[in-house]
Amino acid sequence: MDSAYRLVMQPPSVDDYLRLRKESGLSARTREEAENGINGAWAAASVIHVESGETAGMGRVLGDGGWYFVIIDMAVLPRHQRKGIGDAIMTALLERIRESSPGAQVSLLADPPGRRLYARHGFVESAPSSIGMWRR
Ligand SMILES: CC(C)(COP(=O)(O)OP(=O)(O)OC[C@H]1O[C@@H](n2cnc3c(N)ncnc32)[C@H](O)[C@@H]1OP(=O)(O)O)[C@@H](O)C(=O)NCCC(=O)NCCS
Repeated sequence: MDSAYRLVMQPPSVDDYLRLRKESGLSARTREEAENGINGAWAAASVIHVESGETAGMGRVLGDGGWYFVIIDMAVLPRHQRKGIGDAIMTALLERIRESSPGAQVSLLADPPGRRLYARHGFVESAPSSIGMWRR
């Protein structure tokens, strides 16, 4: 990631969270969901575009602090994509987990845009031994 950007280990504001999800193509969430959830993660990273002050990307981690960790909310605004921001966020979150829990199991649900990035960071498909399931 070049010097036009700065990474901080903090969640985005509620407004930025909602905008990042919507503009990057993730499902839109309500303001209430964002307000209730924004400080609930075990760790979070945001990337700021220094010149404009715009929050360009984010990623968060749910975790028990012991060994279970789940990466969520990986999103970079389209105009800032393919500049290494997603990579920098993933590197920072995994380092934060590793410092705390060297034996951590880290999982995520991988939408197509993120799959190559996740594979570069060592993620492999859990199937067939375990498949992701969800209820929505
Ligand atoms: C997934 C996502 C977060 C990745 O963010 P990103 O900042 O674009 O990620 P990176 O820049 O680190 O890597 C993306 C690609 O850009 C390439 N890249 C990185 N720096 C580059 C540069 N300076 N010049 C050209 N390409 C570059 C990387 O090699 C990578 O290529 P690949 O995907 O073909 O392997 C982003 O695409 C996104 O927000 N997508 C929409 C939301 C979404 O689906 N999120 C994932 C949910 S699971």
